[in-house]
Amino acid sequence: MSIGIGIIGVGTVGSGVVELLRTRTTDLTTAAGTDFRIAKICARLESEVAPYAQDGILTTTDAQDLLNDPAVHVVVELAGGYDLPKSWVSQALSNGKAVVTANKAMIAKHGGELFPLAANNGTEIRFEASVGGAIPIIRALRDAFVASDARSLACIINGTSNFILTRMAEEGMGFQQALAEAQALGYAEADPTFDVEGIDAAHKVAILASLCSRKRVDFQKMHVEGITRITAADVAGAKEMGCVIRLLGQVELHEDGVDARVHPCLVPKRHPLAGVNGAFNAVFIDGSTTGPSLLYGKGAGRLPTASAVVADIVDAVRRLHQKSPIVDLSWFGGQEAAIRPLALAEGRYYLRFEVADRPGVLGRVATILGAKGVSVASMVQRESHSGTTSMVLATHVASEASIQAAVTEIGKMTEMSAPAVVLRHYDRGFSE
Ligand code: HSE
Repeated sequence: MSIGIGIIGVGTVGSGVVELLRTRTTDLTTAAGTDFRIAKICARLESEVAPYAQDGILTTTDAQDLLNDPAVHVVVELAGGYDLPKSWVSQALSNGKAVVTANKAMIAKHGGELFPLAANNGTEIRFEASVGGAIPIIRALRDAFVASDARSLACIINGTSNFILTRMAEEGMGFQQALAEAQALGYAEADPTFDVEGIDAAHKVAILASLCSRKRVDFQKMHVEGITRITAADVAGAKEMGCVIRLLGQVELHEDGVDARVHPCLVPKRHPLAGVNGAFNAVFIDGSTTGPSLLYGKGAGRLPTASAVVADIVDAVRRLHQKSPIVDLSWFGGQEAAIRPLALAEGRYYLRFEVADRPGVLGRVATILGAKGVSVASMVQRESHSGTTSMVLATHVASEASIQAAVTEIGKMTEMSAPAVVLRHYDRGFSE
């Protein structure tokens, strides 16, 4: 019996998956150890499936038709979104089918329900493409690092944000123009606020943090900030400090909880993560026995993401053919990890205040910082425009709680014309 693959969603990634399955058939069959074929393709619109129907593939616009088809043994969910795909995947698992998905939002939100459902039905969900596109980070954390606790990692995991920050730094491009380019290249989510507000990265970091801690990490409880308030002046200010700005995801396991967060950071230029440019992704893992490792590659795009999906399909087919045991991730449904409050963190900070250029303002800002125990390492004040100036301060190591207390107090000053920009330095896992 040939194993049948049913694909839901033939957009950017889905069309790449079909292309790879059809052009690399011999290699893939050899890798899987058995024949397999596309049994059915489903998309929302007739016009999306029509080209595949013309090529002789069975198609449908009704997901139920695919999910209930006994000739479909592996359901490949590539539609995206939270809840509708969850209902399809639940149904597929309840029907005993294996599932392959690239859907980080669904895994991050519903993994706690879906993984136990898979195990209870003797089947599995594979989700390599959900984090880091072509980078095999799920396999790495699940298999390759089993002899080394991955207690700490930092990652650049949203290609769109990294592309935007890179273009802003290297080309002096504005935020909107860089975002439009990223969208045209197919990196951005359907709703690009997911990219630029850090939500896409949070989905992925929650999945990685769950794999590191073997407890479910809820992305909705993590500290998440995006890149929309970063200006060309911040990019230039970071450069003067020998740094680049990157949207980093961070995971660190502590006795009192998991420190899992997403926010922009100043990364020293000599750190390997500072060299990750454009839409590339990277995960920097500090393993207890391995030491630091960097996994680097294309985190988005049609064929890089499709390659990860197809590798999962091959694994799923091989397991079905060999009738080998499932990879049981039902612990996702068990204890939820406590998220360590960001207030307990400490480090060096970059602070930008937009203030009225009047006598005594700098003194009052410095007094408040001092009173909260924050020591200033350097200060630059830009030329004043229409009476307002940008005051950029670099601090020595301070606690997040002190910084937040100082910024709140400074924010009450009548001379402040915009909320402060607070950027954290990334200093962990690497000594210059
Ligand atoms: N929008 C995502 C990114 C695509 O920019 O990284 C891959 O998940």
